[in-house]
Parts: sequence; C-alpha cells; structure tokens
Amino acid sequence: MNKLVTILGFAGSLRKNSYNKALLRAAVELLPTDAQLEIFDLEGIQPFNQDLEKEPADKVREFKSKIREADAILIVTPEYNYSIPGVLKNAIDWASRPYGDNAFEGKPVAVMSASIGLLGGARAQYHLRQSFVFLDMYPINRPEVIVTFAREKIDEDGRLKDETSRKFIKELLENLVTWTRRLRKK
Ligand SMILES: Cc1cc2nc3c(=O)[nH]c(=O)nc-3n(C[C@H](O)[C@H](O)[C@H](O)COP(=O)(O)O)c2cc1C
Repeated sequence: MNKLVTILGFAGSLRKNSYNKALLRAAVELLPTDAQLEIFDLEGIQPFNQDLEKEPADKVREFKSKIREADAILIVTPEYNYSIPGVLKNAIDWASRPYGDNAFEGKPVAVMSASIGLLGGARAQYHLRQSFVFLDMYPINRPEVIVTFAREKIDEDGRLKDETSRKFIKELLENLVTWTRRLRKK
C-alpha cells in the first residue's frame, strides 16, 4: 500500500458560512483513499510586517510548520475586487518569508474558487497562479474548479450539492495526488 499523501487545505475567507470553506469540506469527502486533507483556518493571522518576519507569532509558525509537513497544498479562494482576498495574500506572504525560508517551496498545489457571480472567482485564480511562480510551487493545471453562482449550488447547511462541481473537485484531487507522487517519487 502506498504511503498516504498529506494535503494541507485553507480557504481565503474567514466568513462562517463561506462558500469557499464549503468547497474545502466537500474536498474532504471527495478525497482519494490514499490521501488525507487537513484544514487550516487563517483566522487570527496578523497583518504582515516585515520587521517581525524573523520572529513571527505562534499562529504563523504553526501555519508554516503545517505547510512544511504536508506533501501538497490545496487553496480555495474567493474573488475580491477581481483578485484574491487580502486575508489569503497576507497568509501567503507570511509563509513565504523571511527570504530563503519560503515554506511553500517545491510544493504541488491545487486551486479552487467559488463566487456568487458568473465567473466563479476565475480572475482571482489567475492572480494566485501568478504568485506560484515566485513561490516556486507546482500548480495542477486541470480541471479548473470554478464554482459559479455558488448560492444555488451550496445549500443552507453549507453542503456542496452540485454534482458537476463535486465531480471536478474529485478529479482535481486525484490529479493533485498523482502529481505529488510523481514529483516526490512516493
Ligand atoms: C470585498 C468583496 C469584493 C468582492 N468582489 C468580487 C469579485 O470581484 N468577483 C466576484 O465574483 N465576487 C466578488 N465578491 C462576492 C463574493 O463572490 C461573495 O461574497 C462570496 O460569497 C465570497 O466568498 P465566501 O462565501 O467564501 O466568503 C466580493 C465580495 C466582497 C466582500
């Protein structure tokens, strides 16, 4: 039996009833059997201050160490003003610093987004993908999980009920696990 592939997932929304958090919960259900997914909540990460980057708060230390322990990363992002939310960018900035101590380096990463609008957060995904270049991460290209009109696809209990979206999430996770094994030879 293959060693489990461990994935750390986080959402760029702090909102209790976040649609993007709902996608993360769906991912837990749709995970291949040879993988496990831990969810990390970005709540409580202070605004980035480069003066403090060498002595980050406990929450940032915990985040960085969980990223390092994980074989792969899953990021679920809302779209705010055609880009990623400040909360997500802030967390990524902390984990990438100080220079030379980037916790994300070399990690495979998958991205999903949900929005109440027509484009499902696609523009935010492409901004995020741009950061993967400098972070030196390996993004999974396909499928692109873009959940449009999220209000209609996620019920009042926060469950993703749209079968097409669930199928794409399952496929994305399978690809993430496959590529993680290829990159790590594990
Ligand atoms: C500050 C702000 C900016 C937003 N900008 C966009 C946007 O550019 N594109 C979009 O599709 N939705 C936008 N929305 C709507 C979000 O898609 C919607 O609030 C969504 O529910 C946020 O994700 P969440 O449910 O995970 O918190 C914006 C919402 C906020 C609060």
